[in-house]
Amino acid sequence: MKRSHAILTVVTAGALAAGTLVTLSPAANAATTLGSAASAKGKYFGTAAAAYKFSDSVYTGILDREFTMVTPENEMKWDATEPSQNSFSYAGADTIVNRAKANGQRMRGHALAWHQQQPGWVSSLSGTALRTAMVNHITNVATHYKGQIYAWDVVNEAFSDNGDGSRRNSNLQQTGNDWIEVAFKTARAADPAAKLCYNDYNTDGVNAKSTAVYTMVKDFLSRGVPIDCVGFQSHINSASPLPSDYQANLQRFADLGVEVQITELDIAGSGSAQANSYADVVKACLGVTKCAGITVWGIRDSDSWRSGDTPLLFDNSGNPKAAYNSVISAFGATTTSPSPSVSASSSSPGPGGDGACTATYSNNAWTGGFVTTVTVKAGSSALTGWKVALTLPSGAAITNSWSTTASGSSGAVTFGNVSYNGSVAAGTSTSFGFQGTGSAPSGTATCTAS
Ligand code: G3I
Repeated sequence: MKRSHAILTVVTAGALAAGTLVTLSPAANAATTLGSAASAKGKYFGTAAAAYKFSDSVYTGILDREFTMVTPENEMKWDATEPSQNSFSYAGADTIVNRAKANGQRMRGHALAWHQQQPGWVSSLSGTALRTAMVNHITNVATHYKGQIYAWDVVNEAFSDNGDGSRRNSNLQQTGNDWIEVAFKTARAADPAAKLCYNDYNTDGVNAKSTAVYTMVKDFLSRGVPIDCVGFQSHINSASPLPSDYQANLQRFADLGVEVQITELDIAGSGSAQANSYADVVKACLGVTKCAGITVWGIRDSDSWRSGDTPLLFDNSGNPKAAYNSVISAFGATTTSPSPSVSASSSSPGPGGDGACTATYSNNAWTGGFVTTVTVKAGSSALTGWKVALTLPSGAAITNSWSTTASGSSGAVTFGNVSYNGSVAAGTSTSFGFQGTGSAPSGTATCTAS
């Protein structure tokens, strides 16, 4: 008790010395994340997640912090959930669902019927036997997750890339052209509350493939075949650039009455070109009322199925990239809290003579953990480097940090700039952050020029 009283006194004294008000209102403690920025606009922001990466605390730190929707990258596919006929295996998928539930995140289910990632036993089936196996698979998996899935990709990638709007000639297609509607009806019967989506790639602009999907959705709606949403994978690269009619294409599906979702977004590239394309996708979703949200296909570039394209929002170390900031901005949010919960300044003996920089921070804390976002602001002279000193409460430990180098993980920690955020023009700010276990910091953060 004595100890925490002493800390509070120091904070208050430090803040008063700096002429800054200490506020501890809960509203000021919410750090901006992809999820919170999207939620403020009524959208979700999700990611694909892989259960085998859950032992990586950098990965789970970002997963738990940033996203409000989760799609299992592989764990709900047919080969994972029914490795031998009528023998179901949900361990990987359950791990993801349980983590999402514990974090208040919703789930997209992916994918009930698809020509890829089928277990070996399926390839020996055809005709009625395959159709019956598909129906049994959908019934079992959708029933297992009944009431826990926001939206299911019921059928994935069923149209060809021939440019003629035809169906893909898969083993499932060969069981009869009605296989897609049978899949949707089966899913509806098993989990009536889940939204049922058709999901595909190269359907992001108006083209023969997307028009074939459009025609199918329109037909389903006119005949009462249950379908609630269309997923646009949006794997963007130089061979498949972001189409100029992206928003118009989303809108024409929305106008049919279905929800639209961006389901597997990744954009090859780097720097401002990549950041601008990400912003364009966000703006397109914001421009379509029935666009429920955006899911990126992985967390760090190194987690991507196309890691060589560096297509995601976090670098290999888990630092947010320029594209991350542009997504936050496109949602109309800022990366730093406008009214920090604790504020303090230092008087660095810098060449300018007055305080060279100030550090303010805000916490997003929960029982057992926290995320702290720190803003470093230059005084009347530009900074070429900075350091922020902060003492963590007893028992607290940093598990990962971004846009900074931390000198340690507990007790008195000094955070230094990294190459891209050391230069800060006079009167402007940059930010960094860290995540930890235990109690969030509450003491004075002291900034010095370096
Ligand atoms: O689990 C095995 C591992 O035991 C083995 O050592 C390793 C050796 O290659 O393979 C591992 O399985 C891989 C699996 O991903 C898990 O990492 C498969 O080979 C690999 O083919 C599989 O790739 C997945 C791909 O779908 C398969 O089509 C990607 O992770 C996944 O991101 C990707 O996701 C698809 C969507 O479902 C549908 N839309 C396109 C998207 C990208 O292809």
